Amino acid sequence: MNVPFLDLRRGFAAHADQFDAAFAEIARSGAYILGPHVRELEAAVARYVGTEFAVACNSGTDALKLALAGLEVGPGDEVITTPFTFAATVEAVEYVGATPVLVDIDPATFNLDPALIEAAINDSTRAIIPVHLFGLPADMDAIMALASRHGLVVVEDCAQSLGAELGGRQTGCFGDTGALSFYPTKTLGCFGDGGMVVTNEPRVDERMRQLRNHGLDGGGEHRMLGYNSRLDEMQAAAVNIKLPMLDDTIDRRRKIAARYNAALESTGAVTQATPDGTRHAWGYYTILVDDRAALAEQLKAAGIATALYYRKPLHRHEHFEKVCRWTDLSASEHAAERCISLPIFPEMTEEEIDYVASTTARLLS
Ligand SMILES: Cc1ncc(COP(=O)(O)O)c(C=O)c1O
Repeated sequence: MNVPFLDLRRGFAAHADQFDAAFAEIARSGAYILGPHVRELEAAVARYVGTEFAVACNSGTDALKLALAGLEVGPGDEVITTPFTFAATVEAVEYVGATPVLVDIDPATFNLDPALIEAAINDSTRAIIPVHLFGLPADMDAIMALASRHGLVVVEDCAQSLGAELGGRQTGCFGDTGALSFYPTKTLGCFGDGGMVVTNEPRVDERMRQLRNHGLDGGGEHRMLGYNSRLDEMQAAAVNIKLPMLDDTIDRRRKIAARYNAALESTGAVTQATPDGTRHAWGYYTILVDDRAALAEQLKAAGIATALYYRKPLHRHEHFEKVCRWTDLSASEHAAERCISLPIFPEMTEEEIDYVASTTARLLS
């Protein structure tokens, strides 16, 4: 049997008629950018996440930039985040002219360890970016308490977590802003690039709306240096079609993860802990094993594709080594050396799920 790491064609095929009709309607409408489908999506995502506002933009990376710039984080500011994440988290900090300060992860959850944040805070610290890694909510109670004690703003990186919950609330509604990605591989993906920022603060919403469109205000005045970060109608329409199915697809991901967790329980693999009160969205299913090269090789020979998220923590990359500050990041390094991700997507067949679970368990026993 061959199991792909991800097969996006299956998701399209299941609703092809709806997508085809929407794309044809938009092509004929002549309205391609920031139109009615984008407005509908902004309202729907704000409702889903539980925030007042949502601002569509053209990627999760830009969502993070807008989320920081909207809060006026900039040169001279330090921003605390994790090194065990995708590059965009730290790039966004750099793009707004601030300095990324990396703090280590909790080895059980792979998320930013709140107990280590305080030691990294100084007079220049302005913001914290918790990443809900692989779809697991970070410890937002502890992080929000720290932020309020030190007068910091919080930008949630929800690129991998749309659909995850903490205490019955969606990720993205805890911080000052939350950045979402609609990149095709995400839990709610479109057919290109897309993103969104959610917030409850009207002033920040207004500022982000201007920033995404060249700093233009409603009266045609360029108020600030902005970006071209507009979402197009085709992508918005695709996400509008998929949003009502999101909870079902997350449930399916949870079932697959539960099968994998049960199969791997008696092996030496470290699975991602899900603390009480969290509902993981399982954007990725990542485990830590001592010899991941051997496991990847054996799974490949068995027809199972895997991926390495993330093979090196960011501070070990040539570029980020120069721009970030950090102290001890040994838990991140430990995880990056051992992590390997198994296929997890809602359209996997029962046979594929069983095959991945039993083969991985057998190879690790
Ligand atoms: C944690 C994290 N942050 C930000 C991003 C950036 O999102 P995008 O690819 O839509 O720019 C990603 C996407 O891979 C991500 O995984």
